Amino acid sequence: MTDSAPVLVHDVAQLSAALDAPAPDRTAAPYNRAVVMTMGALHAGHLSLVRAAKELASRVVVTIFVNPLQFGPGEDLERYPRDLDRDLALLSGPGLLGAGDVVFAPTPQVMYPDGEPSVRVSAGPIGTVLEGAVRPGHFDGVLTVVLKLLHLTRPDVALFGRKDAQQLAAVRAMVRDLDVPVEVRGVPIVRDDDGLALSSRNAYLSPEDRQRALALSRSLAAGRDRAAAGGAPDQVRSVVRAVLDDAVDAVDYVGVLDPDTFTEVPDTAVGTAVLAVAARVGGTRLIDNTDVELIGR
Ligand code: PAF
Repeated sequence: MTDSAPVLVHDVAQLSAALDAPAPDRTAAPYNRAVVMTMGALHAGHLSLVRAAKELASRVVVTIFVNPLQFGPGEDLERYPRDLDRDLALLSGPGLLGAGDVVFAPTPQVMYPDGEPSVRVSAGPIGTVLEGAVRPGHFDGVLTVVLKLLHLTRPDVALFGRKDAQQLAAVRAMVRDLDVPVEVRGVPIVRDDDGLALSSRNAYLSPEDRQRALALSRSLAAGRDRAAAGGAPDQVRSVVRAVLDDAVDAVDYVGVLDPDTFTEVPDTAVGTAVLAVAARVGGTRLIDNTDVELIGR
């Protein structure tokens, strides 16, 4: 790595030393330290989080760790794409990480030296609906590693993508309920020109499946239009489902949700809700969401 490259560390002692070294001088930045947590397989969505973090903080820490705790049996833990050299090259691109920024890429042994931890964070009710219903224990695994990474990196601000809207809400709930001293910021979804929300799992899609996957963003646009025309949540769900049913292999859920609790809003609701979908295309499970404004009938 060159002098202008971020510091790459793999264990906790190296991380502490890197964090104790003087931070880059970004005089205009309002915070000392920001963290962006990832599982690698980086794409433009992750890089937009890093760019937002650089605007906010003198030092940016990016973590790269495929967290076994958040994968269920039969999920893609083994085949999840891992390419640290490629991720580091992307992170060192123009306007991204530079000297004094830190990439923390631990092994599972560093994160869980005694094997799977016996104490975990429970996500509570938000961890049991939607993604949590399809993937039991997923959010407990996410929150456990997020809390550990917050303790290890000690940031002022942590940035998460809105693509994983339920994860963002669960992290916010944990930070609020457990008084974790960090500010959490959500960063907008990045989409390809054709509307597909960027995801590391898009790499699994065949060209034909990728075309069919466009139904997710199309369905959300149809739902947003229905809401803007005065549609109630049940009508929004119906138009979304109709678009999805025509294209995908299975719809896991269509939700019009309270942004904090991720429970379905009542049919009389007005104001901002999260319209979230999950569907299977070929062997790949995809999620997407958008805010919708419910104006009432
Ligand atoms: O969003 C992700 O990539 C992961 O869930 C996270 C937050 C890095 C925890 O493993």
